Amino acid sequence: MRHFITLDDLSNFEIKQIFRLADQMRTQLATWSGFCKGKLLATLFYEPSTRTRLSFESAMERLDGHALGFADPHAASVAKGETIADTARMVTNYSHLIVVRHNWAGAARVMARYANIPVINGGDGSHSHPTQALIDLYTIIQRKGSVEGMKVGICGDLRYGRAAHSLALGVARFGGKLVHIAPEGFQIPDWVLTRLRYLYGQEPTEMTQLRDVIGELDVIYVNRLQAERFPPDIDPAKMSGSYLLNAAVMEDAKPDAIIMHPLPRVNELAYELDEDPRAAYFEQSANGVPVRMALIASLLGLEQLVLTHPPSREIAVADRRCDNPNCVTNHESYLEPETETIRGEEASVTACAYCQEIKT
Ligand code: NCD
Repeated sequence: MRHFITLDDLSNFEIKQIFRLADQMRTQLATWSGFCKGKLLATLFYEPSTRTRLSFESAMERLDGHALGFADPHAASVAKGETIADTARMVTNYSHLIVVRHNWAGAARVMARYANIPVINGGDGSHSHPTQALIDLYTIIQRKGSVEGMKVGICGDLRYGRAAHSLALGVARFGGKLVHIAPEGFQIPDWVLTRLRYLYGQEPTEMTQLRDVIGELDVIYVNRLQAERFPPDIDPAKMSGSYLLNAAVMEDAKPDAIIMHPLPRVNELAYELDEDPRAAYFEQSANGVPVRMALIASLLGLEQLVLTHPPSREIAVADRRCDNPNCVTNHESYLEPETETIRGEEASVTACAYCQEIKT
């Protein structure tokens, strides 16, 4: 059985297959409706969501399947203290596939471990958001023809933004060139940089000002400040407005650059850009449906869609708990910490297998 917890769970070949299927599902929906007849998708959302949950539910219904679940954990048994493991065991009996969003890094991996059905990560804390990355890569290919050779500027809160982490890893895997533009203190975390370096030989350019590089970018990917994840010593009010993409800034961008954003936007992407032909963010959110349809169908292994190229990971039992306080292993006491070895050309490092933070 296959899960989709991080991008590492799919090979490039499989991702391309999913994109081909998404193309077909987008353009010839009638051929595919009926595909998930009799199948149930559980959406377990412990954190707020609009696009991810609704596009997954829409995707399932369009394939003639059904969706059930909760969007408010206060209305579920977690409010009574139920663990992720027990919730996973229950939901296994009620559905054929799970999408989970949770505030702890690594929570989706726990769900996958205890559920006997495929699990998809709909976002886990500030760790990763792999289905958003699939949609982003699909949108870049749709607009620009390929990810390979594209200069992709990811800007905004790269520290807490899980969509940014997964996107950076996806762009590097498919041969794009990364530029990271983040305010001081909001740079992309070491665990992402380490993977970029060890696994894909990529050293992203790190900058603080979008204006300094905008003219070189093929893709301008904006993220909001993840204020809800800030530690108490950071005041979001002081940060807001420190960067803004608007028409004046876009004057220096390439005429064929594209503007992307995982949404929701707060005050970092001006509404005046919505009419700019370079704006791709509404297409990007619309692509959430066909890409998620294709992913659901592939993970359910329907007919000839069985995924056949599982990437391998080197997992071992860890000798101590993870240092990341937001790692699920520090919240659910029955979990045994595990490590993953990441091998580069000349050296290797060890990371937490759940939240992927590097062990020192
Ligand atoms: C993102 C998320 O939840 O991480 N939203 C989404 O799924 N499109 C981005 C965000 O909340 O900033």
